[in-house]
Amino acid sequence: MVKKKACVFISGKGTNLNSLIHNSRDTNFPIKIDLVLSNKKDALGINFAKKFSIPFKIFDVDIKEFEKKAIKELKDRKISIICLAGFMKILSKSFLRMFRGKVINIHPSLLPKYKGLHTFKRAIKNKDFFCGCTIHYVDEKMDNGRIILKKRVNIDEDDEVKTLQKKVQSLEYKAYSMAIRKIYIKN
Ligand code: GAR
Repeated sequence: MVKKKACVFISGKGTNLNSLIHNSRDTNFPIKIDLVLSNKKDALGINFAKKFSIPFKIFDVDIKEFEKKAIKELKDRKISIICLAGFMKILSKSFLRMFRGKVINIHPSLLPKYKGLHTFKRAIKNKDFFCGCTIHYVDEKMDNGRIILKKRVNIDEDDEVKTLQKKVQSLEYKAYSMAIRKIYIKN
C-alpha cells in the first residue's frame, strides 16, 4: 500500500496524535505522518513527534501567520491529508479552499450536538444518555463539515466531566483511525 502523506495539527496534549502515530506504523494503515504542526510552543504533543522522530514545526503566532507558514510546509512536503487533533483554532476560508476535502477533525461530541467547547459539561447538564466523538471534514463553519464517523458511549448516572472525558478520549483513539481507514479503504 502506498501511504498518503499526512500532517497532524495540534495545540495541546496530543494524545490523539500519539494514537495516530501508533496506528500509522501498521503497514496496512493508509496514512503516514510526515509532519506535525503546533500553534502552541508549550504543546505537550510535540514530545510525541520528537519521540518518534517525526518532523515538527511550532508556529506560535496568530492564525493568519500560522496558515501562511503551514501552507509552505504542506506544499513542500506534498501533504495530502491534514488531521486536526485538538487544534484549537478556526482555519480561514481561504486555507480551507486551498485544501478542500483534505482537512479532517475530531470533536468530542455526537455532532451536530454540542459544537464548540465544554461538550461533556453540556451533555451531563442536559441529562443525555449518550456522549461520544465525531470525525468530520472541516468546512468554513465550526464543527460543521460532512461527518465521516461517530462513536458513542453511555453516560452513567455517576459520570462527571472527568470520567466522561476519559471514556470519550479512549473512544477517540479508536475512532480517529477507523475514520481514516474509512476514507481510503473502500470495500
Ligand atoms: C480531544 O478530545 C479532541 O476531541 C478535542 O480536543 C482533545 C484533544 O486532546 N478537540 C476539540 O475539542 C476540537 N473542537 P489531545 O490533544 O490529547 O489529542
